[in-house]
Amino acid sequence: MKNILVIGATGQIGSELTMKLRGIYGDGNVVCGYIPSAAPKGALLESGPAEVVDITNPGQIAEVVKKHNVDSIYNLAALLSAVAEAKPQLAWAIGVGGLYNTLEVARENGCGVFTPSSIGSFGSTTPHVKTPQDTIQRPDTIYGVTKVTGELLSDYYAKRFGVDTRSVRFPGLISYTTPPGGGTTDYAVDIYYSAVKGEKFKCPLKPGTYMDMMYMPDALRAAVEIMEADPSRLVHRNSFNIASMSFDPEIICNKIKEYVPGFEMEYELDPLRQHIADSWPDSLDDSCAREEWDWKPEYDLDTMTQDMLVNLRKKFNIE
Ligand code: SER
Repeated sequence: MKNILVIGATGQIGSELTMKLRGIYGDGNVVCGYIPSAAPKGALLESGPAEVVDITNPGQIAEVVKKHNVDSIYNLAALLSAVAEAKPQLAWAIGVGGLYNTLEVARENGCGVFTPSSIGSFGSTTPHVKTPQDTIQRPDTIYGVTKVTGELLSDYYAKRFGVDTRSVRFPGLISYTTPPGGGTTDYAVDIYYSAVKGEKFKCPLKPGTYMDMMYMPDALRAAVEIMEADPSRLVHRNSFNIASMSFDPEIICNKIKEYVPGFEMEYELDPLRQHIADSWPDSLDDSCAREEWDWKPEYDLDTMTQDMLVNLRKKFNIE
């Protein structure tokens, strides 16, 4: 039986992953770790244990790990790419300082650690189409710098100290539950909100800006499956490319129009986000994840779009 601590449990991924982990491993065995400015509410608060865990405070992480006999940590604390550019020092403190604190607690207490990396770990000198698993990683953003550092540090702790670190490089994640906030791929979430509310969508990225994206249920399953994978099959650890779909603003807009015929989009470019998106891959090659732990996505753009529209209409009580 696993005892899990999720750090950053009220964020974009954490709010859904914590509930999924509780469903698999038992409500009482998954601790929702949060910071006071983002306290849990509703089912997240009521269905299991919750503790204040600021990732920049190593003593607090250690205390909660000991109190709940934690053996696995999901480290989801991060600032997304655009907001990190506005606060690079804080992005480093959380992304790298926080990971170091987590790895040290894991080393001392025998915990496994999952830390997401990202398509943001690549940069403008990376091959952009079908980006290989092992390739150039010279990111242009502080977000990417923290992700590459995190991959290296996690591999170092695995090799040097035997800490069971594992990770995937998430594409842009799309969900109707908790909005992302401050990312470069957020437009692909916001566009669905505009579509169900009957609003014209202002797209911050220009046509032809391709990025890898993934529906949240696939991303959550990847986080669980990599941590459950047979370690003897893992050639890589930190971090696996995973992929399910790649599109540009025109393609997602046209897909939504198939189900919302009156939907309209116009372009209002955000130079920072455009610059970041241009430095990221158009699509990832995820063959190593498929070979080493049987990764396979379930959703494509069409099935995701149908599910997003149905669920957002329910969320906003729109017929
Ligand atoms: N979704 C993230 C961002 O846009 C990338 O991993 O910042």
